[in-house]
Amino acid sequence: MLLDRVKPLDAILATAERKSLKRTLGPLQLMLFGIGCIIGTGIFVLTSVGAQKAGPGLMLAFAIAGAVCIVAALCYAEIASMIPVAGSAYTYSYASMGEFLAWTVGWALIMEYAIAASAVSVGWSGYFSGTILEEFLGIYLPQWLAAGPLALGGEEGGFINLPAVLIALLVTGLLIIGTSESAKVNAVLVAIKVTALTAFIALTLTSPEFDAARFNPFLPAGVFGEWGSGTGAVGAAATMFFAYVGFDAVSTAAEETKNPQRNVPIGLIGSLLFCTVFYILVAAGAIGTIGGQPIMGAGGLPVEAGSVELARQCAMPQYADALVCSDEALAHVLREIGFSGIGNTLGVAAFLALPSVILVLLFAQTRIFFVMSRDGLLPARLSRIHPRFKTPHVVTAITGSVVALGAGFFPVGQLADISNAGTLYAFLMVAVAVMVLRRKDAGRARSFRVPAVWLIAPLTIIGCIFLFVNLPTMAMLFLPIWGVIGIAIYLLYSRRRSHLGLGVVEVVDDIAGDETMVPIDPPSQR
Ligand code: ALA
Repeated sequence: MLLDRVKPLDAILATAERKSLKRTLGPLQLMLFGIGCIIGTGIFVLTSVGAQKAGPGLMLAFAIAGAVCIVAALCYAEIASMIPVAGSAYTYSYASMGEFLAWTVGWALIMEYAIAASAVSVGWSGYFSGTILEEFLGIYLPQWLAAGPLALGGEEGGFINLPAVLIALLVTGLLIIGTSESAKVNAVLVAIKVTALTAFIALTLTSPEFDAARFNPFLPAGVFGEWGSGTGAVGAAATMFFAYVGFDAVSTAAEETKNPQRNVPIGLIGSLLFCTVFYILVAAGAIGTIGGQPIMGAGGLPVEAGSVELARQCAMPQYADALVCSDEALAHVLREIGFSGIGNTLGVAAFLALPSVILVLLFAQTRIFFVMSRDGLLPARLSRIHPRFKTPHVVTAITGSVVALGAGFFPVGQLADISNAGTLYAFLMVAVAVMVLRRKDAGRARSFRVPAVWLIAPLTIIGCIFLFVNLPTMAMLFLPIWGVIGIAIYLLYSRRRSHLGLGVVEVVDDIAGDETMVPIDPPSQR
């Protein structure tokens, strides 16, 4: 049987109890933490991709994606308050649905975090090249070094996105030597990002260039675009979902939160609502001032974001200033409406703040990899700890290299879509895990309980499926292909080597090797 190996929750909680973190976080700190992880490439860069998919309907897209994230966040919060150990959705699934499904979740999370880190690296590269190199230093990178072969706005002739590769490798190096982001640095970066976006909203919404007529037609590609094209307001929602990813980090802080029943939902919903409102206002400001209608191709459909055809169209003089063609959407808007200096300052804000999002995503990825390896599902060599830096350097280096490759060769929108496919699967499984644990383990203490769980959890599942089926076909297909590879590895390698299968439950609590080993009776049929 594939579903027979469920990690005993008591063994997992034994570690959590030993950890007994101090409850120090209040609602404001939680919100700051959340906003720090959430705001990144999604709003600073993908705004142009979203506009190409939906036009002004981008605002609706932000609302739809935000709503799905809010219900998913509630599910995350309950389960994290119950099982507050490393590994997030993977560990939750192991304890509720068993090793096989947990493996699929962990496998999807590897894809999610690594590809998301590539996407943010590409986003950073747009601001680095546009603001730091071109505006400040007057250096123009040759086309073949500035964009991957298919990158948006890269015209034909891009070969490798060198700045994206370099930032991915730099952040990997920082993680290997043990850099983690302190609460203080996070607070500063949040302040920088929020100030930049507030200035953007204030300047655009009050600009004389703002013209409500630019919102007409509001839905040039409809609410539902053609199936598989990833266009229309819901297609854009499936992409802009990326702009909210990262909030799961807040739920994992449940155990360190004062009065979690009250503060975790305030922190989660607060940061998500804050970002939703902010994002909608940013989209309104951008579109209201310089317009955001998609470039239409044959058949009256928007040209595919990130395609060579769009790059070709964007090279035409009539689209030189179009929002949908910009690699640094928000700075571009400000420059267009006469605030070049502030546009450049916003570019610097993105340049400074986006690497911390890459850091959080890469860190999360290595954590998942590490925990799976410590469970015996991946080779133990991967979880080797560096003697001096005390970090899992092998897995970090492998991950960082793959992230750099993705960042070097793929367009940001496609990377975000693929990453979203994996995230949506993980969110869906977390919602299922919440319901399974309510049935299987109803009496266990939960410092936070989802209100109306039998409504919220199914809504999360429906929301995730809804966004998933509105991704472009390529992103939808990536998940099952990745999944088949993962299942093959599981059946050929991991299942036989699983520590749980061999009768040992290992609970990893600390990357530096703090772990609990709990022997159990191996089930007779393995
Ligand atoms: N939400 C994060 C971003 O937009 C991943 O960069």
